[in-house]
Amino acid sequence: MKENNYVSELTELGGWRDGLAAEGKRVVLTNGCFDLLHAGHVRYLKEARALGDALVVALNSDVSVKALKGEGRPLHCAEDRAEILCALEAVDRVVVFDQARVTGVIESLRPQVYAKGGDYTVESLNAEERGALEGVGAEICILSLVPGRSTSQTLKQMEETGGAGQKAKLGILGSGKGSNLDAIFKKIDTGELEAEVTVVISDVAGAGILDLAKERGVQALRIDPGYEKGGRLSDGAIKEITDRLRAAGVDLVVLAGFMKIVRGELLDEYSGRMLNIHPSLLPKFKGLAAWRQALDAGEKETGCTVHLVSAGVDSGEILGQAKVPVLEGDTAEEVHARIQEQEHELYARVISERLDAMAQ
Ligand code: GRF
Repeated sequence: MKENNYVSELTELGGWRDGLAAEGKRVVLTNGCFDLLHAGHVRYLKEARALGDALVVALNSDVSVKALKGEGRPLHCAEDRAEILCALEAVDRVVVFDQARVTGVIESLRPQVYAKGGDYTVESLNAEERGALEGVGAEICILSLVPGRSTSQTLKQMEETGGAGQKAKLGILGSGKGSNLDAIFKKIDTGELEAEVTVVISDVAGAGILDLAKERGVQALRIDPGYEKGGRLSDGAIKEITDRLRAAGVDLVVLAGFMKIVRGELLDEYSGRMLNIHPSLLPKFKGLAAWRQALDAGEKETGCTVHLVSAGVDSGEILGQAKVPVLEGDTAEEVHARIQEQEHELYARVISERLDAMAQ
């Protein structure tokens, strides 16, 4: 366990090194930009630390990173890069240096060991740095790089996927007209919901929700629900839906008026990644025509609920609700229309929150 871990001034390092040397301890020095830390860096620093008793990382300042790597670099300022390095178990001290060469640090620190990544050989080390290392009697160790891990590769990958990475993919299941899907598309258009719909599946041939998907150029599939008692989907239908969602790379399944009970491998595959919207303030009024149930029960207020889908009907953790009043003389249709207005705001909001939570 290291007792101290902070960014040092170059002038402090010589005395610190002498103290350790008096205890028979060897100091290892390495240097670099460490702009976008990856597992390759972490493994390399661990190996470097194992060459002695303490590891000093000489970190290129922002000016020197820019000179070495070009415009747009570093991505993270020296203070941040140093803070991240300091948090690593393998790193004992970080010192920021401004020059193109690490010679000044070598001369002040006088490390017993100098570690460098395998993109160099002892011969290809800069002559000035090599001279300084020989001058202080440091042993030079070249460590092999971790294949497939590099900052430039990470940056290239980010560029290819549009910088922020790919958008989350939604798979929609619905049996009806699809006003909730329409609202989701509109929230995507305005940028309020950062996601894309990659597939829309319905158990009802000719359902409005499928036309909506086609209009938007989204894959629209009708799947035969098969015959099962109590509106359950047949095993074959469950399998086909699961396969289709998987093939479309779906991250989150959104039930938007899907009138079948979800179960089996579909539920297992998307556990915690499947949402439903229900037109009541759950746990009140589960099941069909929930707005009518609320009206018939004489409720003064009802609303809608978005919840995670679990094995029971309209059960599962509640993630969000919106309320609407039930007014004197309301018809069931009027109550439903009022609820749907709220659904169209609530669903996209909760989907967005869920995607954020999944990305953590
Ligand atoms: C909504 O009222 C929703 O709460 C319920 O089914 C209805 C779907 O409507 N689960 P739409 O097809 O999105 O217009």
